[in-house]
Amino acid sequence: MLTPQLERINGELHYEGVALSDIATRFATPTYVYSRKAILDNFVAYQNAFSALNPLICYAVKANSNLSVLATLARAGAGFDIVSAGELRRVISAGGDPRKVIFSGVAKRADEIAFALSQDIYCFNIESESELHRVNDVAALHGKRARITFRINPDVDPKTHPYISTGLKSNKFGVAHGDAIRLYALASTLPGIEVHGIECHIGSQITELSPFVDALRRLLALVDQLAARGIRLEHIDLGGGRGIVYADEKLAPMTEFAKTVADELRGRSMHLLLEPGRSIVGDAGLLLTRVEFLKHGETKNFAIVDAGMNDLIRPTLYDAFHPVEAVSANSVAPTRYDIVGPVCESGDWLAKERLLSLREGDLIAVLCAGAYGMVMSSNYNTRARPSEVLVDRGNAHVIRERESFEDMVAHEHVV
Ligand code: LLP
Repeated sequence: MLTPQLERINGELHYEGVALSDIATRFATPTYVYSRKAILDNFVAYQNAFSALNPLICYAVKANSNLSVLATLARAGAGFDIVSAGELRRVISAGGDPRKVIFSGVAKRADEIAFALSQDIYCFNIESESELHRVNDVAALHGKRARITFRINPDVDPKTHPYISTGLKSNKFGVAHGDAIRLYALASTLPGIEVHGIECHIGSQITELSPFVDALRRLLALVDQLAARGIRLEHIDLGGGRGIVYADEKLAPMTEFAKTVADELRGRSMHLLLEPGRSIVGDAGLLLTRVEFLKHGETKNFAIVDAGMNDLIRPTLYDAFHPVEAVSANSVAPTRYDIVGPVCESGDWLAKERLLSLREGDLIAVLCAGAYGMVMSSNYNTRARPSEVLVDRGNAHVIRERESFEDMVAHEHVV
């Protein structure tokens, strides 16, 4: 399977016109490579499909927070969904507009709230009564009013991996559906709070439309109950975007997703917000890695590559499937390999049982690694985080240097 902007020319994989083997030669491996066109096309697909609703599309920074990725989206008019002051500072550094920023997360610190208020962000998504009071206190202290939504836990099953399912009663996220009316009534009495909207986020990598519809209906029922009590909401935020195709997932077209949402919102004047992350960057990036050794065991064959679980933890953590392609076609007989890394853990694998034609020294591309790849990387085993490269119409730009040993020990002290 190939992803957008990835094509084979004379047997060699090219990404937005650049040979991946050239990128490996110039920047070494492992390296994350993103296609600017693929990112923009994904963003524009949302803009076009939802154009009738004129939504504010707040890219979820957590999916990939590289400054060049954020700048690309900021220039295309994106808003941003952040979960920390650090992410807000990234958005500002990348030229994003803080007034198009929404602040999610279950435990925003007082200093983070104060900073976000000083930048006049669009809205805080509140996840508990205690957090409501904290935001009110900080806002009042600074003589401001914070626009807020409550993140409602609608208790719908998104039918995705339990680790990335967030809208069930058993999850830590959001306020209980049954508490919502009381909390909105309370919020509307607080001097530092301006009640502005309603939000939910039920999970990630959701491939069906029905969980979004169920959640939306639960939210709209609350909107009506609140209106009957004189609390009018200006916006409705549907949370993260839809899933992507990693393997053989069947996704409804974006236009159908948009039409379904538009049908539910018909006759209402509420402004729509969306917080997609994965579906903007996921299939717009890959991890380029080199085969160190081929090891033929008694029951399994291993391709040991120079990227490990510290570089891409999704397979280990979620049992996630990422397509894998050999960068250069060759005539070696295909063999079934587990693609494993150099880290000292049996869980250090990137892919299992893949039929590939490989020789030692060959390059491999691990696809659909643009979302929750680099951002979840670590220095485990004192391995430097990979470099990041952005390809843009035939040119490759390094957008994050590979870490050095000095970077890794910069904040340590020998006592
Ligand atoms: N909004 C909120 C409040 C979120 O918590 C998330 C993701 C998003 C938006 C973006 O959702 P998306 O459009 O990407 O589905 N590390 C996991 C995914 C964790 C998602 C957490 N929240 C993975 O690698 O699959």
